Amino acid sequence: MRQTILIIGAGGGLGTALTDHYLAAGWQVIGWSRQAPVRTDSALQWQQLDGYQPEQLQDAQAALEGVELSGVLCTLGMLHTESHMPEKHLGALSAEHLRASFEINAILPILLLQQLLPLLPKKQSCFWVQLSAKVGSITDNYLGGWYSYRASKAALNMLLKTASIELGRTHKKLIIAAVHPGTTDTALSEPFQQRLPADKLYSPQLSAERIAQVIENLTTAQSGKLLHWDGTELPY
Ligand SMILES: NC(=O)c1ccc[n+]([C@@H]2O[C@H](COP(=O)([O-])OP(=O)(O)OC[C@H]3O[C@@H](n4cnc5c(N)ncnc54)[C@H](OP(=O)(O)O)[C@@H]3O)[C@@H](O)[C@H]2O)c1
Repeated sequence: MRQTILIIGAGGGLGTALTDHYLAAGWQVIGWSRQAPVRTDSALQWQQLDGYQPEQLQDAQAALEGVELSGVLCTLGMLHTESHMPEKHLGALSAEHLRASFEINAILPILLLQQLLPLLPKKQSCFWVQLSAKVGSITDNYLGGWYSYRASKAALNMLLKTASIELGRTHKKLIIAAVHPGTTDTALSEPFQQRLPADKLYSPQLSAERIAQVIENLTTAQSGKLLHWDGTELPY
């Protein structure tokens, strides 16, 4: 039977590439995004949302009733906005950007898990993967800077780890993982690409393939982990 994936944030750089990847692999894809559909395809069901706050998800959630999901892949994330770039030093920190980063990078993703949990199968295996970032690793932080992004991704990793422990008791076949995609050529990384060696900037298509490979190889023993795109475990 055809597998079904829900991709949340399907209109972003990685979201679009992941949508393409899973469609090409023969999956049924349900895409949630604030954007108009990235393409038309008989296997793609697109839900354009006003936003990802719990009260904005009711119609999209109702459309999921009865759908047998193999897993959910959430790409939501924010590094910079038109008015804020990642902080290079403490003086650049603002409550506004810190709050917005926590909202998009940590709070919305865990509320999505809370809200969609009743729709996840209990008897079959299922994955809940959220794209995170290696810079959210506290152990791996040797460079400093990027206060809001680092801290909000660290909070995300902790929220997912905590949920994995609780849900490991009730949803024994559910695997919750945070995946670092590697620096990928999207709008999110665009302002920071100049100094990168060309072989360290990956195309969205390549990153999508790698993320899908990590998902394919997930085991319940990996639930709650932060995983690199090559499948290895990263430290918190
Ligand atoms: N690109 C990289 O180098 C890189 C590296 C490490 C980690 N990541 C992580 O990978 C994920 C995807 O990133 P990307 O590179 O594809 O970035 P992107 O193109 O900017 O996409 C970001 C996604 O987050 C959602 N989003 C952004 N701002 C939002 C807001 N204000 N409110 C609600 N939703 C918002 C968008 O959903 P819509 O579909 O609704 O627009 C979009 O799908 C993020 O979690 C990011 O932190 C990326």
